[in-house]
Amino acid sequence: MPITDTAAPTALDVQWVRAQFPSLAQTVNGHPAVFLDGPGGTQVPQRVIDAISDYLRLDNANGGGAYATSRRSDAVVADARTAMADFLNCGADEIVFGPNMTTLTFAMSRSIGRDLGPGDEILVTRLDHDANVSPWLALEEKGVTIRWAEIHEEDCTLDLADLASKINQKTKLVAVGYASNAVGTINPVKEIIRLAHAAGALAWIDAVHYAPHGLIDVADLDCDFLVCSTYKFFGPHMGVLFGKREHLQRLRPYKVRPLSNAIPHRWEWGTLNHECIAGITACIDYLADLGCRAEPQVASRRAAIVAAFEAIRRHENALMNRLIAGLSEIPRLKIYGITDPSCFAWRCPTLALRVINQTADQTPRQLAAKLGERGFFTWDGNYYALNLSERLDVEKTGGFLRIGLAHYNTADEVDRLLTALRQIVG
Ligand SMILES: Cc1ncc(COP(=O)(O)O)c(C=O)c1O
Repeated sequence: MPITDTAAPTALDVQWVRAQFPSLAQTVNGHPAVFLDGPGGTQVPQRVIDAISDYLRLDNANGGGAYATSRRSDAVVADARTAMADFLNCGADEIVFGPNMTTLTFAMSRSIGRDLGPGDEILVTRLDHDANVSPWLALEEKGVTIRWAEIHEEDCTLDLADLASKINQKTKLVAVGYASNAVGTINPVKEIIRLAHAAGALAWIDAVHYAPHGLIDVADLDCDFLVCSTYKFFGPHMGVLFGKREHLQRLRPYKVRPLSNAIPHRWEWGTLNHECIAGITACIDYLADLGCRAEPQVASRRAAIVAAFEAIRRHENALMNRLIAGLSEIPRLKIYGITDPSCFAWRCPTLALRVINQTADQTPRQLAAKLGERGFFTWDGNYYALNLSERLDVEKTGGFLRIGLAHYNTADEVDRLLTALRQIVG
């Protein structure tokens, strides 16, 4: 689903937002730190830090015991499931916690692959992070054929005609990202899910990059699975999987025998990271509070999350317009991905850049280092979107410089970044 502005303006209280995040007050070499590294992991509000340390201070125990801290630990996990269910709009028993998206995807691909073999096909895309590619490529050893959906190079959007032509009766699963962590493209996932289902295939959505920027509604999308990582949307380092109840019940996990066979527990092996799970509830409540400040009359946490993302989008959109307009005036910079403002509903505020005809001191790494000295935290390389960097032939020359805006960034930060880039690129 594209991210569109709604008619009713919802304002983001940026001052309040920034006051929630203690790390934003840091300096580097006397410069205020500017966090443009959200796609690699966002900063966390104080309440997330407090929830993690409070858990360790007061509730620390294994689950399932007959005493107070163990019962509280069980409640912490149950609360976080409900919070994530509100975030994704699903049932709490459809939420599976794991260490990160990559681990969850490998675990599920192994289980899904138990029933697949020669003659079966899985469709992946050139735009995706490798965590939504390699777990499916691993099934080639079972004889499964992996097919690739290509991209339009000029704006780094998926070639939907190509994608549709590669879905057929043999397709068992379509794995696609909600948004690209490299170039910011938002994919028409609802349409892709519909195409997958029309052929009887499952739809697996990697929402890791989309989650901090746009509202996710798995009921509306009708996806079979959706994965995200809370450390990309203001929470702790954890992964979360939504799986439709029927699939979580039907598929066969590899698990230890004493572990319950009930969902979602049968998909959670070993002891969970309780302290980080405590932080997940705090992170969702932070977003809900943000939504309540934007729209005080909301009646539920889900409604508050909806309001939060309206406010976030409005703010990020303004910053993205300002940034892209400024970058476009630096003649030696090339922006990858969508640059036509009329199509901005189909992109996140994540920009991949390179200097045209770069010299040895203008590689993405060099640019990131020079920006880093001035307090701007950006990323460089392929950020595991390996198939895209190879397809665009930038892999051997350092990949891209990535600038990732989040809702805690400001117009002033964008302006200062543009000044710094003008000085560095010349
Ligand atoms: C789009 C996308 N998918 C998947 C991943 C992998 O997530 P995790 O680190 O939780 O395994 C990332 C991480 O950067 C990502 O950006």
